[in-house]
Amino acid sequence: MTGSIVILLGAPGAGKGTQAKRLCDSTGLVHVSTGDLFRENQSKGTPLGLEAKGYMEKGQLVPDDLVLRMLFDRVSRPDTRRGYVLDGFPRTEPQAEALTKALEAQGAAKPMVVQLDLDDDLIVERAAGRLICAACGHIQHLKFSPPKRAGVCDVCGGELRQRKDDQPDVVRERLAVYHRQTAPLVAYYERQGVLERVDGSLEPDDVFAQLVELVRPSLVRGEN
Ligand code: AP5
Ligand code: MG
Repeated sequence: MTGSIVILLGAPGAGKGTQAKRLCDSTGLVHVSTGDLFRENQSKGTPLGLEAKGYMEKGQLVPDDLVLRMLFDRVSRPDTRRGYVLDGFPRTEPQAEALTKALEAQGAAKPMVVQLDLDDDLIVERAAGRLICAACGHIQHLKFSPPKRAGVCDVCGGELRQRKDDQPDVVRERLAVYHRQTAPLVAYYERQGVLERVDGSLEPDDVFAQLVELVRPSLVRGEN
């Protein structure tokens, strides 16, 4: 693992996936989403996917050992050599510690960490209306980025679906888990002096503009 590493932190529905995709399209970094990796494993019916399924459907975290194995396997592939954007990882202090140690062992630079700030009410609204393309993974929203044709992806014409864990009771559980287990990582990275924040409640273009302003200079200088 070398190159620039950007970590997007934020609650479920904060816009990590939306922004990570845009950032990767514009910088050439590779998008690594642990949630997407688990969903891919589930659709292929792998043992890892089956093991993760029960936790995800209840809105709970998948155990650290499974997450870490999958993550380090993914970021050791050659396509990540020039850097990657982590979306949905780390989510617990042991995960953050494991990543810090792995990066130190490789002599890699510290990651740049960006927290997407957002109120809980907006998070529930975003999750409730989210639509994901089953073919290309493009993310839309019933209210905030409505499809031109109902149920059809604007990008590739694939079928738009809702995620099982976007039902209101599961979203509430995911939020509670976030506040309990993941929110402390903001202080963890603040202590390391690598935390930046953006206002995640703005329009996607405005969130992206803030993000690029933070990340680009480090990429250009090759510091991260
Ligand atoms: P994961 O897939 O990572 O889900 P999450 O963190 O809950 O985050 P989401 O994908 O729900 O939200 P997002 O921030 O990506 O928002 P998005 O861009 O889609 O994880 C799922 C599950 O997998 C976990 O619950 C856990 O079980 C397991 N898991 C994954 N990683 C793990 C780990 N490291 N450890 C343990 N378990 C793990 O946006 C949401 C919606 O809002 C979309 O409809 C979008 O169009 C819309 N939107 C986005 N930005 C804006 C904006 N600026 N204005 C208006 N609408 C917007
Ligand atoms: Mg996501």
